[in-house]
Amino acid sequence: MTRLLMPQVRERRTPTRVGRTYHLRTFGCQMNVHDSEGIAGLLEADGMVPASDPDTADLVVFNTCCIRENADDKLYGSLGMLKRTKDKRPEMLIAVGGCLAQKDRDLIHERAPWVDVVFGTHNLQRVVSLLDYAEEWGPITEILEESEAVAVVPAKREVAHSAWVTIMVGCDNSCTFCIVPSVRGGEISRRPGDVVREVQALANDGVVEVTLLGQNVNSYGRDLELGGHKALFADLLRRVGDVNGIHRIRYTSPHPKDFREDVAVAMAETPAVCEQLHMPLQSGSDRILAAMHRGYTAERFLAKLDLARRHMPGLALSTDIIVGFPGETDADFQFTLDVVAEAKFDSAFTFIYSPRPGTAAAEMVDEFLAPEVIQDRYQRLTERQTAIGLATNQMLVGETIEVLVDGVSKTDAAMCSGRTRTNKLVHFPAATAAGSFANVRIHRAAPHFLVGELA
Ligand code: 5AD
Ligand code: SF4
Repeated sequence: MTRLLMPQVRERRTPTRVGRTYHLRTFGCQMNVHDSEGIAGLLEADGMVPASDPDTADLVVFNTCCIRENADDKLYGSLGMLKRTKDKRPEMLIAVGGCLAQKDRDLIHERAPWVDVVFGTHNLQRVVSLLDYAEEWGPITEILEESEAVAVVPAKREVAHSAWVTIMVGCDNSCTFCIVPSVRGGEISRRPGDVVREVQALANDGVVEVTLLGQNVNSYGRDLELGGHKALFADLLRRVGDVNGIHRIRYTSPHPKDFREDVAVAMAETPAVCEQLHMPLQSGSDRILAAMHRGYTAERFLAKLDLARRHMPGLALSTDIIVGFPGETDADFQFTLDVVAEAKFDSAFTFIYSPRPGTAAAEMVDEFLAPEVIQDRYQRLTERQTAIGLATNQMLVGETIEVLVDGVSKTDAAMCSGRTRTNKLVHFPAATAAGSFANVRIHRAAPHFLVGELA
């Protein structure tokens, strides 16, 4: 049974779990990673400290995703393994949150009754109260239908100089492959003043780069009336651009059908906005785009790229592409390859279509493709894009580029790595501090990174 607690806001509370440990595992996309920063922030505000081993932690939290992967198997597998630990240490707490929890609701507790707390995508800010409840009364599932407002929680950032800022949650579109509208609900925008205040606070805390997050940032503010006029994404970009101390602004994701000139102009006129844009294509076939409910044709998509490039010289573009949408023919796939050739994306995230229960495309069972057909197309697409990515990166050899340093490379302690404004990964020999800027002369290009030395 889904039990609902009365919504309650606790702005401050005395930490009650000082020194107890938590292990947090995140599945899925950037939105989820950011949500996990919020969960970690709340747990640490309650006095908890992170632990790497789930078997000895006082609390294990899984923040789940159901957008692409078959997260069910992974989650229930991990929960099965944790059962043994819980049998030995019944006082440990297990919490499951996120998209899959929102979708599966009571099923999680039915399949894994040893889970203490199940929470969804709309109430992560209540995680500590839910743990309190579970400790006192026993297992609880709390799934809310929708958010009242965008929850803003003090995030624990993994990187000190770079932060994600949620500007809106949810999505009002109905792409037929996508589960987001059903698990994250309709669009709710944060007020621009609140966003700007958060960015200012981050800047005061040493952050120099922010990425504005939303499922469809171009419709930011449609739900807000501010003094008789709508808040617009272009205005928000300019206002964030005015915040002292923020040197780089990125955002993800725009929707090609809603991307308009005012945003391209605001990008060009706001010096901190990076020359980088992620524009999800999904397919190059007009027939498949219509079946996906995307609201644009390949030609209009390419026109949007032209518009963006016209205003932002040197713009780097990335995209998302789904291979094997139900009914995709060889001819449809060829259109995707054609658009990829013409668009010359710097990089692409390529996904194999995966039916998400409850979405319109998942009903098109008769048109599902054979896995080997999809695999073959997937390989051809990634090979094509890898070659294009390499060619675009090779054009940078010999140039000196500003890099924001992430820190020492994970694989080689003598190397640093960082990102260009165009979001390309650069490796170079140095011991430069994370969060500082370096000018790096590029001498080698690979499809997914560049190598250089301090200029
Ligand atoms: N199958 C495959 N890829 C998907 N995506 C979203 N839903 C699915 C699905 N059912 C991809 C889209 C989207 C990205 C975030 O994930 O390309 O842009
Ligand atoms: Fe999903 Fe489409 Fe909304 Fe993106 S725009 S979150 S793909 S429904």
